[in-house]
This record gives sequence, structure tokens and C-alpha cells, in this order.
Amino acid sequence: MGSAVVRPYQDTDLEGAAAALVAVHATDGYPVEGVADPQAWIRSANVRAAWVGAVDGKIVGHVSVMRPQGEDAVSLWTGQSGDDEQHVAVLARLFVLQEARRRALGAQLMQAATSWAQDQGIRLVLDVMAKDTAAIRLYQRLGWTRIGEATHPYGEGRLMDAICFAAPDA
Ligand SMILES: CC(C)(COP(=O)(O)OP(=O)(O)OC[C@H]1O[C@@H](n2cnc3c(N)ncnc32)[C@H](O)[C@@H]1OP(=O)(O)O)[C@@H](O)C(=O)NCCC(=O)NCCS
Repeated sequence: MGSAVVRPYQDTDLEGAAAALVAVHATDGYPVEGVADPQAWIRSANVRAAWVGAVDGKIVGHVSVMRPQGEDAVSLWTGQSGDDEQHVAVLARLFVLQEARRRALGAQLMQAATSWAQDQGIRLVLDVMAKDTAAIRLYQRLGWTRIGEATHPYGEGRLMDAICFAAPDA
């Protein structure tokens, strides 16, 4: 596999990112709600910024920063910190193709998002399914703080345990 780059998302990345997401769902069951419309799940009006990881032009990873939409992680953080919701955003849609893992692409995608947020004066928060242990290790290694637990609704009335994290101080 060639060398990997992390760069800002471009509209022409959508097809490749959607294909990568479908592959990650097959290997990891992420996202739990399924990938019926992967392009819509990646790209929505709530995305403020996004980055991709690419190897030889192929999209192998993705992350985005999204406006809050009622997530538990946001209310946990604003309640604990006193921050205004306008200064909070949600790190989401993080995934790396299985074949491209353990090369620090996940860490670089996280770094791109956190640098952007720090420049904007925004605190990032996230929720992660308790089953996604590689992602939890990544967040802890990067100094994110566990701020509480949540239950993630998906499908038809199904629930999954999730853990909420907040980004470290700049
Ligand atoms: C979570 C995820 C994005 C991590 O991606 P990644 O590119 O493998 O992340 P990194 O390479 O930065 O780190 C992963 C591991 O590789 C290790 N690593 C990084 N560079 C390495 C290198 N050059 N050589 C050996 N190991 C390396 C890290 O130390 C880390 O080890 P650990 O899991 O034992 O703690 C990926 O596993 C994934 O897509 N999972 C499924 C989707 C998911 O759960 N998303 C989270 C949603 S909230």
C-alpha cells in the first residue's frame, strides 16, 4: 500500500467515501443504523467541515465535524462546562478501511478535526458505541475525556450503549 495522506474533503470524494463506509459497515457494523444511503449519511447540511484519508487516490478514511443535533454528548458537556452550545460541535463519521488501519490515519483524521476546532474556538465532543473499542482506545490515547454515558437509538426502537467524550483543552 502506498503512502497515506489526510486532506480536506472535496465534493469529488463523496463516491469514494461512501464506498469506504459500506466496506467498514461490512467489517465492523459501523454505523449501527446501517448504510442504506451512505452518501446522505456522510454529507448533510449539518456538516461544518470534513477530511479524508487517501492512499494512491483511493479514499480509505473520513471524519467530519457536525453541528449539534440534540446529542447527549453535547448536553453533557454544556452542563458540565457551562459552555454555550454555539461553541460546541460534534466529531462524527470517523472510519478507516480495515486494510488501511494501524498506520495512524485515524489519529491524523482526529488531529485535522481538532486543529480546525481549536482555530474556531470550538469544543468537540463525540459519542462512540461501547462495542467500538479501537475507537475508544484512540480517543483516550489522544487525551479525550470521558464525560458520561448515553443510549444510542437506532433501527426500529433498538438501543445501544454509548460513551461520550470531550476533546482536551487546546
Ligand atoms: C477507530 C478507527 C477509525 C481507527 O483507525 P486507525 O487508522 O486504525 O487508527 P490509528 O492507526 O491511529 O490507531 C489504531 C492503532 O494502530 C496503532 N498504530 C498506529 N500507527 C501504527 C504503526 N505505524 N505501526 C503499528 N501500529 C500503529 C495505534 O497505536 C493504535 O493501536 P491500539 O488500537 O492498540 O491502541 C478504525 O478502527 C475504524 O474505522 N473502526 C470502525 C469504525 C469506528 O468504530 N468508528 C468510530 C466511530 S465513533
